[in-house]
Amino acid sequence: MAKIALLGGTGHEGRGLALRFALAGEQVIVGSRSAERAAGTARALNQRCPAAAYPFLGATNAAAAEQADAACVCIPAAALQETLAEVRASLLGKTVIEVVNPIVRTAAGFGLFPVAAPSAAELVAALLPDSELVSAFKTIGARHLLDTADPLRGDALVSGDSAPAKRFVLDLVARMPHLRAVDCGPLPNARHIEAMTTLLLELNRLHGGTTSVRILDLPEHAHR
Ligand SMILES: NC(=O)c1ccc[n+]([C@@H]2O[C@H](COP(=O)([O-])OP(=O)(O)OC[C@H]3O[C@@H](n4cnc5c(N)ncnc54)[C@H](OP(=O)(O)O)[C@@H]3O)[C@@H](O)[C@H]2O)c1
Repeated sequence: MAKIALLGGTGHEGRGLALRFALAGEQVIVGSRSAERAAGTARALNQRCPAAAYPFLGATNAAAAEQADAACVCIPAAALQETLAEVRASLLGKTVIEVVNPIVRTAAGFGLFPVAAPSAAELVAALLPDSELVSAFKTIGARHLLDTADPLRGDALVSGDSAPAKRFVLDLVARMPHLRAVDCGPLPNARHIEAMTTLLLELNRLHGGTTSVRILDLPEHAHR
């Protein structure tokens, strides 16, 4: 069991990942800018998910990062700079999962907006240079994560340069029934995953679905 801090864990994606991580046997600390909001979300998750192996806890992002063995960054791209500066020291040497898609919706549809790096993943890497970063879950929408009666299907696309951090996420996904983890190589490949997520949102907009991905014809060694 690892204790995982979900930075921005009060949001849609954060609450969904909190439920799925807890059901996979991890202990979750919901993080927020507000200790009260974090506590309220943890209370609601405890009521909603009595099957969790450990009770959900709530704390400020800073306190959650300090107490946890690992963290998951679930905040909007525009908030990365400020939020990650607060937790950089606490996350030194720890595994950090980031799920950020720098996506904006305009009248023309969904698109990526520029961040201060070629991808949100690489921006997080620049802001947390002392952590073991892995990018994952970007293509898995909150709606699927929150509906725990329905197992997650398809692929969790995982990229990163730290072998232990990547193994941590591959093992975590392996404990999520029906979901498969696909090793997408080094962290910069998250650029392609962020673009792919934009396409999924466009498909949802055009056709009204809640799409996700499954890669076909992958050799066995590329997934678990
Ligand atoms: N929604 C999805 O389906 C989905 C799917 C894949 C990936 N993602 C990614 O996951 C991340 C979170 O998505 P979301 O839909 O959950 O977003 P969200 O609900 O808009 O935000 C998540 C949390 O971030 C915190 N936050 C908001 N603005 C902030 C700021 N300026 N500074 C610091 N913290 C701030 C808030 O927590 P407090 O107010 O409690 O601090 C909020 O509850 C995004 O990067 C998104 O691209 C989302």
